[in-house]
Amino acid sequence: MLDAPAAATISLMGLLRKIAADAVELARALRNERPGPAAGGPSLKDAVRAALTQDGYKVLLMSRVRETARRWHVPGVNHALRLVTTVLYSIEIGNDIELGEGINFTHTLGTVIGGTSKVGSRVKFMGNNTIGTAKDNGCPVIEDDVVIGCGARVLGPIRIGRGAFIGANAVVLTDVPPGAIATGIPARIHERGSNGTYAASGSTTNGAD
Ligand SMILES: CC(C)(COP(=O)(O)OP(=O)(O)OC[C@H]1O[C@@H](n2cnc3c(N)ncnc32)[C@H](O)[C@@H]1OP(=O)(O)O)[C@@H](O)C(=O)NCCC(=O)NCCS
Repeated sequence: MLDAPAAATISLMGLLRKIAADAVELARALRNERPGPAAGGPSLKDAVRAALTQDGYKVLLMSRVRETARRWHVPGVNHALRLVTTVLYSIEIGNDIELGEGINFTHTLGTVIGGTSKVGSRVKFMGNNTIGTAKDNGCPVIEDDVVIGCGARVLGPIRIGRGAFIGANAVVLTDVPPGAIATGIPARIHERGSNGTYAASGSTTNGAD
């Protein structure tokens, strides 16, 4: 069992590592680079510039502090920073949400991530998005590298597969396979064919609401 100072050091190191990883991923996204070993990686200057200039990074930074405060049962910090991000950036991230690395809030305005939603790494929110329950029946899991177009709502106990694209203003009520596109209300799924084009494969209303 670790003593308290050792555990605090590990926790602080974890926080710093996440804060750095968030800045690197954001800088990479701003350069339209895909993650992975093939990508050379942004310079330190690019990462610092991304951290200083992007509102989304400040939201992420506060979320990291909130996660650490929760882990350490520091009273008040989680709720206070939630209020700060809501007032300053009009983005509301629930009290128990854990975000993956390098989330990109292109525009922070009007986005709500609530309940028990889970958001993977490098997910991109284009603004005015809602991720949450449909009728108190559970919340979505958004896998890595998903892009969520402006105004889109993702509701209920559903899974959005890695690399999927949710079109602007879509209301998504069922699972979306990895790499597929979902558009409309209720969203229709367009799966990627072998030639890289998309074909509609039906409505997503299946009662998951
Ligand atoms: C969903 C999206 C990725 C589709 O892009 P695409 O693969 O290039 O597809 P296309 O533009 O060729 O459109 C294919 C079809 O889907 C329709 N479509 C595209 N986007 C749609 C949307 N958001 N809602 C409903 N239908 C949509 C098109 O009208 C077209 O229909 P058709 O086949 O009957 O002519 C894109 O339109 C989108 O919504 N991007 C989000 C952009 C955004 O949020 N920007 C915010 C900037 S701050």
